[in-house]
Amino acid sequence: MNNLPSQVKLVEVGPRDGLQNEAATISADIKIALVNQLSAAGFVNIEAAAFVSPKWVPQMATSTEVMAGITRRPGVIYSALTPNRQGFEAALAAAADEVVIFGSASEAFSQKNINCSIAESIARFAEVAAAAKANKLRLRGSISCAFGCPYQGDVSVEAVADVVQRLRDLGCDEIDIADTIGVGTARQVQTVMQRVMQEFPLTGISGHFHDTYGQALANIYASLEVGIHIFHSSVAGLGGCPYAKGATGNVATEDVLFLMQGLGIETGIDLDKVVAAGQFISTHLGRKPVSRAGNALAAL
Ligand code: HMG
Ligand code: MG
Repeated sequence: MNNLPSQVKLVEVGPRDGLQNEAATISADIKIALVNQLSAAGFVNIEAAAFVSPKWVPQMATSTEVMAGITRRPGVIYSALTPNRQGFEAALAAAADEVVIFGSASEAFSQKNINCSIAESIARFAEVAAAAKANKLRLRGSISCAFGCPYQGDVSVEAVADVVQRLRDLGCDEIDIADTIGVGTARQVQTVMQRVMQEFPLTGISGHFHDTYGQALANIYASLEVGIHIFHSSVAGLGGCPYAKGATGNVATEDVLFLMQGLGIETGIDLDKVVAAGQFISTHLGRKPVSRAGNALAAL
């Protein structure tokens, strides 16, 4: 059996990726309470905001208020999505600890999501990256559709490697390999991750898996087998992408924590507190959490 990492970093993306697609407006107060519950549960990195056009993603229009209202826990990195210079300035003003430039390995998705080609996006990101460095902020790069695209179908491993190189050259500290529509399967995930590792240090590569086809936990395990030890997850399995029709939430944080506990892999996160946070936001949204482990534990 392969050696698995002894500890992993989980990045909680529920407050951003999880909530961005909700049709009904969620107040800043609810988002703030959620972020605070998550930091109290022990996450060291929480994606709390997106400084994107409110015409494109109305739910994220409260980002400035959310960042101003949360209780900052020492040592926690609060991240914000910043597609361009305008987004960066807002993130800087809101005192984000990390800014996220988000591109795609698929041309078609890049156009739908951020209204420009991959090459144009890199030019915009270069400006954000330089400003992040000048202000000593952490810089993360995210690559959508690394395992398949809702518009163009297959995405080649080399297309992913190419965007990884470009984000690396902009100075990213961490790069997310994202399965936006959850179509990746375990061997494919290992192939892509192993190719990416040729371009970027393993210590900075993360897996961002949506669970649309029920493959996310298997893909996390497959990633662990090849040494990946940063994963994104969403409390209560919240989420979906406004530009990926039918895409469901990220893998549920509770399910990932249950897996890690069983494998004896340290996360530093209190599962019971995450289950409670999942109940809190799901009650507010008027539905059950989309987490098998979360629901099972809540029923005990
Ligand atoms: P655009 O329309 O091409 O931009 O949008 P523009 O520069 O022509 O500006 C048009 C208008 O937008 C102007 O306002 C700007 O001020 C405004 P107007 O003069 O018409 O009133 N604007 C902004 N407003 C606020 N914040 C900004 C900003 N920039 C311009 N930063 C843009 C380009 C990228 C802004 C737009 O396409 C956009 O916001 N898209 C949203 C993309 C998004 O948030 N997608 C979901 C997140 S990505 C994701 O979920 C995937 C991920 O989870 C990984 C995975 O799972 O794959 C990360
Ligand atoms: Mg996502």
